[in-house]
Amino acid sequence: MKNIVLIGFMGVGKGSVAREVAKNSKYITMDTDDLIESMENKKIKEIFQDEGEEYFRNLEKRVSLWLQASVKDTLISTGGGFYKQKNLKKIGVVVLLDSPFDEIIKRIKNHPNAENKLKKRPLLSDLNKAKELYDERRTQYLKVSDIVIDVTKKSVSDCSKELLKKVEKYA
Ligand code: S3P
Repeated sequence: MKNIVLIGFMGVGKGSVAREVAKNSKYITMDTDDLIESMENKKIKEIFQDEGEEYFRNLEKRVSLWLQASVKDTLISTGGGFYKQKNLKKIGVVVLLDSPFDEIIKRIKNHPNAENKLKKRPLLSDLNKAKELYDERRTQYLKVSDIVIDVTKKSVSDCSKELLKKVEKYA
């Protein structure tokens, strides 16, 4: 099994889909933000506050090199900016979870834990800026991905099934 690298904008549901896939397949799952929080023993929000975004992006780079060298048979969910790593395709099959910006924000706001979801993501604190970031990134996301899953109005379970079906030919 090749690794799967799950990319997409903040709040699109990468973590939920990854957990569902792991429940229904042989994939082990891990998350680049979780790895970074363990490496630094700090929350992402604190890393941004104390050290700044560039420092965080360097940690993402270290993680990407480690993933390429050392990780197999794994579904890797990533932070929304991880797609910029140059070795993305060397890590595994790149799967984009795609949805329009407004739908993503609606999804976050409807979540029972919405406040926390917004608070822990420094780049979502200003929704106008987040929309600009989304517009900037969307074409790049499409460019680097092998597989695109439109998650709009689909259940996590349906997204997970679609993902497993679409990655079959890359196995
Ligand atoms: C970021 C997304 C976040 C996290 C960090 C930066 C981004 O992850 O890595 O706050 O640049 O889009 P999620 O996509 O899991 O929210």
